[in-house]
Amino acid sequence: MGASIKKAVFPVAGLGTRFLPATKAMPKEMLTVVDRPVIQWVVDEAREAGIEHFIFVTGRNKGVIEDHFDKQFELEQTLRDRGKLSELAVLEADLPAAGQTSFTRQQQPLGLGHAVWCARELVSGQPFALLLPDMLVEGGAGCLKQMIEAHDRLGGNIIALAEVPPQDTGAYGIVEVGEASGNTFEITGMVEKPAPDVAPSNLMIMGRYILQPEIFGHLETQEKGASGEIQITDAMAALHKEQKFHGINYEGRTYDCGDKIGFLSANVAFALNRPDLRDAFMRALDEVLKSAR
Ligand code: UTP
Repeated sequence: MGASIKKAVFPVAGLGTRFLPATKAMPKEMLTVVDRPVIQWVVDEAREAGIEHFIFVTGRNKGVIEDHFDKQFELEQTLRDRGKLSELAVLEADLPAAGQTSFTRQQQPLGLGHAVWCARELVSGQPFALLLPDMLVEGGAGCLKQMIEAHDRLGGNIIALAEVPPQDTGAYGIVEVGEASGNTFEITGMVEKPAPDVAPSNLMIMGRYILQPEIFGHLETQEKGASGEIQITDAMAALHKEQKFHGINYEGRTYDCGDKIGFLSANVAFALNRPDLRDAFMRALDEVLKSAR
């Protein structure tokens, strides 16, 4: 199982204004969680789920993302000369094979929906995964892997759901859910950034999707929505009139790395999950917390 979805889209053209000045000249997707850029963690999740073609929608000032997924001959030779073979092995293992990556540009940051639409020719008419690199999931069997398994069972469109505090619904795409079956729910409605008093639930569209290619027809005609941006949620709500959507309550803990607290928490959680760092980091953290109190 898990063989049905082979292409994944990574929209990385946003401006990252919440992380200025760090993101003035550097893409926010290259911020590091422990010692790997955020985008690398998300590509790892996609590879583990069986993805074979990685499509990046980039923008101006994002060239370093393309360089990150390329060979760096001089660096590799230097590591070899210095006997740093384990570092070299990590670089080699991380690199997608030649021809497995594609890069296209969103010329203006008109919104996530528009960024996804920019990938339409590369996706070329098949169901695909969409991963927002802001969101990292730690623990569990791999969020996208669980979603592809659900897609193999249910078909249609699958979106990962996470609970948010009810007062925070105005910051996310929110779903209305119907009947549950195991860890999946039928989705009965979707709305982008609803105020808490009109939100149909506190289940947010977390940033992992499996979508049918008909989504592109709806993105093409999409008007600007919440925050003046072309929203993927609006196009999904239109597609929902024709096709089924299921939500999945996946295993694993989610960190919103587009937000400072989420990003800092992810660094702590991912470091504590590393056997080579755990004990020493725990001691260092204890010291920091003691002196901060
Ligand atoms: P965000 O809204 O979280 O990203 O979009 P942002 O706009 O870069 O961040 P802030 O709010 O200004 O800090 C979620 C994902 O969609 C991409 C972003 O790069 C991010 O990975 N995105 C967003 C695009 O590719 N294009 C857009 O026009 C908007």
